[in-house]
Amino acid sequence: MRISVIGCGYLGAVHAAAMADLGHDVVGIDVDAGKVALLSEGRTPFYEPGLDELLRSGLASGRLRFSTDIGEAAGAEVHFIAVGTPQSANDNSADMSYVDSAVEALIPHLSPGNLLVGKSTVPVGTAERLSSWVSERVPGVMLAWNPEFLREGFAVQDTLSPDRIVYGLPAGGNSDTAERLLDAVYAEALAAATPKVATDFATAELVKAAANAFLATKISFINAMAEVSEAVGADVTRLADAIGYDARIGRRFLNAGVGFGGGCLPKDIRAFAARAEELGVGESVAFLREVEAINLRRRARVVQLVEEHCEGSLAGRRIAVLGATFKPDSDDVRDSPALDVAAALRAGGAELTVTDPQGIENARRRHPELHYEADTDTALVGAEIVVLLTEWKEYRRLEPAQTLRRTGVDRPLIIDARNCLDPEAWRAAGWQYRGLGRS
Ligand code: UDX
Repeated sequence: MRISVIGCGYLGAVHAAAMADLGHDVVGIDVDAGKVALLSEGRTPFYEPGLDELLRSGLASGRLRFSTDIGEAAGAEVHFIAVGTPQSANDNSADMSYVDSAVEALIPHLSPGNLLVGKSTVPVGTAERLSSWVSERVPGVMLAWNPEFLREGFAVQDTLSPDRIVYGLPAGGNSDTAERLLDAVYAEALAAATPKVATDFATAELVKAAANAFLATKISFINAMAEVSEAVGADVTRLADAIGYDARIGRRFLNAGVGFGGGCLPKDIRAFAARAEELGVGESVAFLREVEAINLRRRARVVQLVEEHCEGSLAGRRIAVLGATFKPDSDDVRDSPALDVAAALRAGGAELTVTDPQGIENARRRHPELHYEADTDTALVGAEIVVLLTEWKEYRRLEPAQTLRRTGVDRPLIIDARNCLDPEAWRAAGWQYRGLGRS
């Protein structure tokens, strides 16, 4: 099939490359000439394992190209909208201006029978609005909503082999045609028995909001249990193992630690709550405020642990911060708990060095006041306190005795803010160890 993907950020670049890999003829379009030039050379503007290879094989096959010219979308049968929906400048709602301008720019290049497919995370009601707008301007053009659930770090795998495919289809006669076109796009995944949920616009939009809200709630639930565990001397990691064996609960997304961040979960739950308010059902998702409050308290708790250890004043204390990104296998520092904690410790007067395998460049742009060091060993020299904030495998595999020698400090403190180290091994090697929700 001939496909255009409008917006080549995280979502769009991965989607375009994956569609070409599935055998479709794809043009990715973005207004950012620098991004288009980079992608056209088979290079990604961000770190995502496996994506460069996928891009290069797509470009080499001739099935994938990138352009800044929206006119190149003409001729495609299916057009994916994959532009960003960031948080608005003034409130928690989603800023829809990129979606609206993409659609406006695309309209002159659409032909009757084309299918416009929204992938961006949007407020419920968007598909209905866009559908009337587009069909008024170009009769015979259909719209569908097809939310994306990819995780950074696993974006290629999640796009090529999704857990499920969701279609929000138009009411009325166009529904079957739209569904058939989407089935042709996803033929390979459907042949592999990927579950498909075909539904109406509002349900499809809500599926995405609900999935994110559930995941955020699951993390904050276990972090709330971490707070209780700290009060009674229990171990939240063992607790998570024990409740996670119950198949109704499940162990995934039950890792207590410094909480969730990133470009999606935090802004998406805020936008969901804002949209629910507008719809008059704010109370139904009022718990999301608590979810966020718990999440932010975990960051404060890490800072508090450092302060307690320093008996109040952080001034001049040597701290090594391991991790800047919001999670491993990503260079994304948007709403990163790690950077937030690092900035708070620095503001308190600590002499702090931040290290990260991929995120330093992005972190420096956001927090130029912090001191960065690419080499972990160098970052550790002289550290009285080591705070592990992102569970990169490089840090999970640190050898306690060797790490102690690198610091050159007698009985330093390690704060394992992702509960990813073995407390006994670290204590035995001469460290003071503190986790979150376990003593
Ligand atoms: C998330 C959703 O998983 C994805 O489906 C959606 O499309 C976009 O948002 P992503 O932002 O890539 O994906 O990150 P994810 O892997 O979900 O992690 C989010 C945050 O939660 C990270 O900061 C991570 O460290 C944290 N987390 C995750 C926990 O603190 N504990 C856990 O058990 C799991």
